[in-house]
Amino acid sequence: MCTEVKHLELAVKEVFFKIKDKGKDKSILNGVSFSVKNGEILAILGPTGSGKTTLLNLISGRQKFTSGKITLNGQTLDKRLRRRLALVQQQDVFFSQLTLIETLQFTANIRMPESTSASQKQAEIDEIVQSLRLTKCLNTVIGDMFVKGLSGGEKKRASIACELLTDPDILLLDEPTSGLDSTTARDIMNCIHDSAKIHKKLVITTIHQPASKLYHMFDRLVLLSDGYCLYNGESKHVLPYFQQLGYTCESGYNPADFLMDILSTEDESEINKFRSHAKSHTIEASSNNDITSNNRQGNWKDKKDELKISDSDTDSLLEETRVSIDLQPEKTHGSGDKYLILGRHEDRWTTGWFTQYKALAGRGLKQSIGVLKQGYTLTQAAIVTVLCSLVYFRIGVSYETSRDVFGLMFFYVGYWTFIPAMTVISSYPAERPVIIKERASGAYRLSAYFCSTMTSVLPDLFIQPVVMFVLFFWIGGFGGPAELFPALIINLLQAFACFGLGQFLSVLCKDLRMAITTLFSYLISSYLLGGFFSRNVPIWMEWIKYVSLFYYPYAYTITLIVSGIDDIPCNQTKIDEFPKCNHNASLFVTSEDILEQSNVFLPPYVIFIIILCYTALIRLASYLVLRFKKETLV
Ligand SMILES: Nc1ncnc2c1ncn2[C@@H]1O[C@H](COP(=O)(O)OP(=O)(O)OP(=O)(O)O)[C@@H](O)[C@H]1O
Ligand SMILES: [Mg+2]
Repeated sequence: MCTEVKHLELAVKEVFFKIKDKGKDKSILNGVSFSVKNGEILAILGPTGSGKTTLLNLISGRQKFTSGKITLNGQTLDKRLRRRLALVQQQDVFFSQLTLIETLQFTANIRMPESTSASQKQAEIDEIVQSLRLTKCLNTVIGDMFVKGLSGGEKKRASIACELLTDPDILLLDEPTSGLDSTTARDIMNCIHDSAKIHKKLVITTIHQPASKLYHMFDRLVLLSDGYCLYNGESKHVLPYFQQLGYTCESGYNPADFLMDILSTEDESEINKFRSHAKSHTIEASSNNDITSNNRQGNWKDKKDELKISDSDTDSLLEETRVSIDLQPEKTHGSGDKYLILGRHEDRWTTGWFTQYKALAGRGLKQSIGVLKQGYTLTQAAIVTVLCSLVYFRIGVSYETSRDVFGLMFFYVGYWTFIPAMTVISSYPAERPVIIKERASGAYRLSAYFCSTMTSVLPDLFIQPVVMFVLFFWIGGFGGPAELFPALIINLLQAFACFGLGQFLSVLCKDLRMAITTLFSYLISSYLLGGFFSRNVPIWMEWIKYVSLFYYPYAYTITLIVSGIDDIPCNQTKIDEFPKCNHNASLFVTSEDILEQSNVFLPPYVIFIIILCYTALIRLASYLVLRFKKETLV
């Protein structure tokens, strides 16, 4: 079902990439140029740290280059054109609790056109799974550092399978064979080879020391050393090229190893020689950009003399020159829409909003349920509930027990303010690279993802807080359904808002530690300055309780519970606690007095409105931060 591409040419021209490192400019890539057409496999070879991943990131738009040009059929490779590009990253990133087949089905549902029937999607999955030999692990979970799942090689093949399912026109692969045994590496390369040769995809792959058999699959090579391009051209010309510079690959020696030895040299004079030779090569090509084909031929005849390349190589070298020179827009198609040139109608999104939401929510729910099934959070909640039942069993609601009631509810509300935020903050680092990768490839609308995150917290939201709250109410003997249900709704709303708070902090803060520190600082000051247990909060700090997420649900819950306490004569209370009893000991203490003494004086309906407002505000803030904060993996 793969779409066959008609004609594509990707050109990278004089691309420089610099970063600021400790206040100084650091060059990562220095004027890299090459071009590649569909149906070809271009391999980027170079020692570690030479800039291979960076180059792929620049092409895929994950990073922005400092200067230069990257074009597709002469058009700047922009966000829209990049939707036809897929990148298999060096690190494999997935949702850990899904099985491989669930992961593939998710990709198929969200990335394949909605017109594709379920059986067609399944057929496509089966074909890719078979060609990558993944059949036996289809029902294995992906796994993470806590749960063992797919092996490293299987994960790598799973990454490739997911990208192939999207039927990209351009396939970028970052070290698809690293760390794999030779058979698996060959299987992967065969599959990539088929994509290029049979389905006419444009393939660019970085690779570390390929076996000789794999090396011969490459049509074109880009050799990188320390950010400099030392060779760019057809792979069959690379050995003659270096031979002319005085380096001969002995017969029987793996050409890839030979090239890696050259690229890894630390001899300054040799490095300079390679760089200046490669540079003159590039300058010559670009300065001849507007000359006629004949002139080009003459030029390359000179080059041929200079390099003394055999006659049999001349024709293909001339052909190669044309490819590397013709980087300006194609006159026939230059101003047209490339999607139409390729005969493919492509909307901005492959699937509609609801399909995206359904697939994302389904994946999110599976992930949440998978984590719940591990049982850690449930065990923690069970231990807390058992301990509380031992301490607070059937204390009931009265003036004498009001302090205990406040203590238990303080604990409950505090727990379900902290736990939801912390659950999201601790799980987001693993999800973040997946989301960044999927969003970078334009897989779905942000709004669909955002709404799905609100759905996928439902198991966490409904199972534990509800069971725990109902048990606490029953254990304490705090009232009937009239008190239980409104309090439960408010506490669920609170937990929902705090999942949002966790999402907001995870995206806003640059790393996990910063998010946790911010959450702790905020919650501790909320607990401390809420005024419930301390009457000595300085006046200038009193406002803090009004921006505390903890204050309102706690105040609402105890208001409902304490409203059941009958009025009691002042002389049966600790008179000092109530100013009105100090003046007249024959008065009665009401539930309002008890609440006021605990700093709670807002009517429940006002608290309810405030909680609704801040829940909406937090959710809006987390959406905005997701939309506007530029998140990159690098
Ligand atoms: N954000 C950054 N800050 C500092 N240095 C960086 C940054 N990003 C990349 N580099 C440096 O850029 C160089 C190229 O990195 P890159 O990841 O592209 O190398 P690579 O060729 O893919 O290496 P490997 O084969 O190990 O994957 C490295 O020296 C790396 O340390
Ligand atoms: Mg790399």
